[in-house]
Amino acid sequence: MGKLRLGVMASGRGSNLQSIMDAAAAGKIKAEVAVVFSDNKDAFALERARKAGIPALHLNPRDFGSKDEYEKAVLKLLHEHGVHLVCLAGYMRIVGRVILDAFPNRVINIHPALLPSFPGLHGQQQAWEYGVKFSGCTVHFVDEGMDTGPIIIQAVVPVYDDDTADTLADRILEQEHKIYPEAIGLIADGRLKLNGRKVSLRREK
Ligand code: GRF
Repeated sequence: MGKLRLGVMASGRGSNLQSIMDAAAAGKIKAEVAVVFSDNKDAFALERARKAGIPALHLNPRDFGSKDEYEKAVLKLLHEHGVHLVCLAGYMRIVGRVILDAFPNRVINIHPALLPSFPGLHGQQQAWEYGVKFSGCTVHFVDEGMDTGPIIIQAVVPVYDDDTADTLADRILEQEHKIYPEAIGLIADGRLKLNGRKVSLRREK
């Protein structure tokens, strides 16, 4: 079987995108980034894609009459690039029905906290302010909710007394860069089994 073609959607600096591109380029996962899309023309993620010779595309949601119209245009781009799996990597919008229906169980996201704790914006800061002793990150399937879909992989990090929200975020980010490519690799190898909310691992062939 050929490589899994990824469409990465990012709004910002794109360090997770980079970790995915690096893992793909190093042959660590049976996947390739087919296209990078951003809703923000200044996203550094687009720059990273261009540097790697990957199509870097942008659409401004404000140029469309509705969220559906915008998503239909995004979907067209994803289809044009033969995308099999959509990877949200710091994409700052809730993905709607148009894209989710076109990619059933084929949209995944990385969140910088141990879901279901601290969904939404600034998960690292929320966890640090709450005073938890451990936090981490989560790769999950995307459904219509905010960070509510079935969990694929999580990584845990300790929270130290002298941490700030920023030092904690850095520690979490290091793990994000490991588990996001890992989750994509599992999907590329056909090893994930989804049963309701439960995601389990098939044995390696
Ligand atoms: C990451 O912390 C990710 O967990 C969250 O948004 C941030 C994106 O960072 N969803 P980057 O653009 O991948 O560097």
